[in-house]
Amino acid sequence: MLEQIKKLKTEIAQFSVQSQEELAAFRQKFIAKKGAIAGLFANLKDMAPEEKKIAGKLLNELKNIAEERFSRLANELSTLLSSHWESEIEDLTLPPPTAALGTLHPLTLIKDKIIALLMSVGFEMAEGPEIEDDWHNFEALKFPPNHPARDMLDTFFIAKDPSVLLRTHTSSVQIRIAKEKRPPIRTMTVGRVYRHETISARAHCIFHQVEGFYINEEVSFVELKQTLLYLIRGLFGQNIKMRLRPSYFPFTVLSAEVDIDCQVCGGQGCQICKYTGWVEIMGAGMIDPDVLQNCYIDPAMYTGFALGMGIERIAMLLYHINDLRLFTENDIGFLKQFTGYA
Ligand code: PHE
Repeated sequence: MLEQIKKLKTEIAQFSVQSQEELAAFRQKFIAKKGAIAGLFANLKDMAPEEKKIAGKLLNELKNIAEERFSRLANELSTLLSSHWESEIEDLTLPPPTAALGTLHPLTLIKDKIIALLMSVGFEMAEGPEIEDDWHNFEALKFPPNHPARDMLDTFFIAKDPSVLLRTHTSSVQIRIAKEKRPPIRTMTVGRVYRHETISARAHCIFHQVEGFYINEEVSFVELKQTLLYLIRGLFGQNIKMRLRPSYFPFTVLSAEVDIDCQVCGGQGCQICKYTGWVEIMGAGMIDPDVLQNCYIDPAMYTGFALGMGIERIAMLLYHINDLRLFTENDIGFLKQFTGYA
């Protein structure tokens, strides 16, 4: 017994710990209920009373030694661990690293910019449904029944009912608002539109449009032209050149395609502008009197203009993005480049 006590004493004195696990092992080995010291206490009962007295005293001492050693080892360990931590951090006075903030999507940047520009000249924001009916998307906008845009290839129909569809443009919101409000109406809408296109660098089945329209007494083409110029200058800078080309939309009379001088080649001619020096960025025109009539607005009293543009197209020109798919693929490397406001 005395031998064993002596042996344990040296073991306890020599024990050192580097980790919480080793500290727990110390307790397990010497102090715990099933540990070595408890084992020796259990042996006492078989001893002669005299020996038992001496051995009992020594065992109690050993137990105290073990407990003291344990608390000392625990202290040493915590100093050891915290000094490791300090040396890893190196300089505790440095400010903490800032949280990584997300960035705004390029389409959001452009959308916000266009909204701010239109709002600054009195356009109010409106929304309309993405699931539309034939009347608001086509009929009221004077798309004749055999118009190519109604073709199955262009339009996504919902279920079996051919009169319910995903809107192919935001012009449907013109109808909804014009039906609801009375002139003067100066409204814009921004949103997703859908067309049955094969996805490629230049086409997508989902994209975004901004629509603006103004209905009042004596709204003229001059006002439309100035609004377009204001918008384009706001987006591309004061030196931008604008060109209006005669065009056709079923719901406008005196329709125009709006071109700007190519920002990529500076009008010299490149792939983006197909070597013309000009790129088309929106459609616009004076609202057809029949469309006003469809919205219960008297065309003898009121006239109006409408403009519509694709947000992706503007973003591509402003940021020199050459593949539409980048907008929806959520590539972090691509998205991280857009940190500020447009
Ligand atoms: N809705 C037309 C399109 O999607 C664009 C447009 C809007 C044209 C308003 C004229 C006026 O092509």
